[in-house]
Amino acid sequence: MVSRIIPVECFDLVIFGGTGDLARRKILPGLFRRFLGGQMPENARIIGAARSNLDDAEYRDMVAGAITEFGGAEAKDTECLSRFLKQLHYVQVDARGTDGWADLAGLMKPDVIRAFYFSVGPGLFGDLAERLHLHKIADAQSRIVVEKPFGRDLETARALNETLALHFDEQQIYRIDHYLGKETVQNLMAVRFGNVLFEPLWNNHYVDHIQITVAETVGVGGRGGYYDKSGAMRDMVQNHLMQLLCLIAMEPPSMFEADAVRDEKLKVIRALQPVDYHQIVRGQYNATDKTQNYRDDAENPRSHTESFVALKCHINNWRWAGVPFYMRTGKRLKARNSEISVVFKDLGHSIFEGDEARHRNILTIRLQPNEGIDLQVTIKEPGPGGMRLVDVPLDMTFADALGPDADGGSDAYERLIMDVIRGNQTLFMRGDEVEAAWSWTDPIINGWQERNDVPKEYDTGSSGPEDSLMLLHRDGRRWHEIKA
Ligand code: BG6
Repeated sequence: MVSRIIPVECFDLVIFGGTGDLARRKILPGLFRRFLGGQMPENARIIGAARSNLDDAEYRDMVAGAITEFGGAEAKDTECLSRFLKQLHYVQVDARGTDGWADLAGLMKPDVIRAFYFSVGPGLFGDLAERLHLHKIADAQSRIVVEKPFGRDLETARALNETLALHFDEQQIYRIDHYLGKETVQNLMAVRFGNVLFEPLWNNHYVDHIQITVAETVGVGGRGGYYDKSGAMRDMVQNHLMQLLCLIAMEPPSMFEADAVRDEKLKVIRALQPVDYHQIVRGQYNATDKTQNYRDDAENPRSHTESFVALKCHINNWRWAGVPFYMRTGKRLKARNSEISVVFKDLGHSIFEGDEARHRNILTIRLQPNEGIDLQVTIKEPGPGGMRLVDVPLDMTFADALGPDADGGSDAYERLIMDVIRGNQTLFMRGDEVEAAWSWTDPIINGWQERNDVPKEYDTGSSGPEDSLMLLHRDGRRWHEIKA
């Protein structure tokens, strides 16, 4: 087993939106875990920047509270926490005005890596980029990190790319899709390109179809305002599911290096066939006696926004011609369960007399929870009575194979932030990738609007609308069950 952690150099990381929800829940607790892991150099600094009027001590108190609330068991190490807090600072800045920028400029150290995390709405990206330049805070080595949503369609994404490009090169821009930072998502590449076993079978000669499911149990309560303008297509499919599709379908890059990987992903997106609207099912969840329906959660009684999407698509290239990819994602489903199943074709001929079952090898990569890999194989059913066949799972749960810390105990965000400091863009989306993804989803979303499409209702705790099951049934297939 190879395990070499690449050290990071000294850095100043400025978090714009440093008092916001994402900073408190994910970014700061994640950085604390990296500090505990010895990956944060002693003289590295984290500088919170936001509108609130706080001094360093008040900011450190706020961060201590956030880490206690969201940092898990590690947060109990109070001695370490107080050492970590000493590396934190705060400046009050006005993203759209002039206040605070000179203070920030004065605070930055020379000769260390400067990273700027835009943990704010996309409406402020341009203002921040411009002011970082105007006040000479960013230099040619600096990096900016931008959050999703990166636009809401091709036009807005293009405009954002153009705005950022006024001040930063593509090599300096890190567009986060936190799915790419998940351990098991990276494992997709390790499984495909680190084993001789799968690659020869990874094509339309052997694969019948591929399923990608990202099922959630949470609703949209609390962020209904954002979600209602977005919907599952923009919130999940255009980015997270698209990235999974790319990793499962791309050609082997010549090396595991940022542009080599992203070039191959881009080819997949560009080869995606437009989806016919008969091949898409939209849904909206219903209430139960304990939970509200989508429209109440979204506080929009007439909302036609989807909290569920299932679709069938094709990739127009040599490797995948004729192989359907089925994707679905939704909120308030039966279980939190994300996985990819590669369903191989039936045997052309069975030598076992009387065995009429369709035995299929299925490789399932479980992304979360219970991360692992499961390969369904056919064996002889034990016992007398002749040659009867049965399908069983060759199941490897990573935690069993590699110990309970199989995911390194880390969260996607902290892994990605450390990659920013290391200057490694492999797990970040390039501008052309994001634009290509919108080019594919825009016609789908526009079609819904033109037809005034109304999503199908589905029961909370179900697997989604009946029609999404039919999407596969009418092709003689069925979804892998959503299991806890
Ligand atoms: C976010 C979406 O990007 O991903 C949320 O905006 C979604 O709606 C979340 O719940 C899912 O992420 P995870 O890591 O919990 O699977």
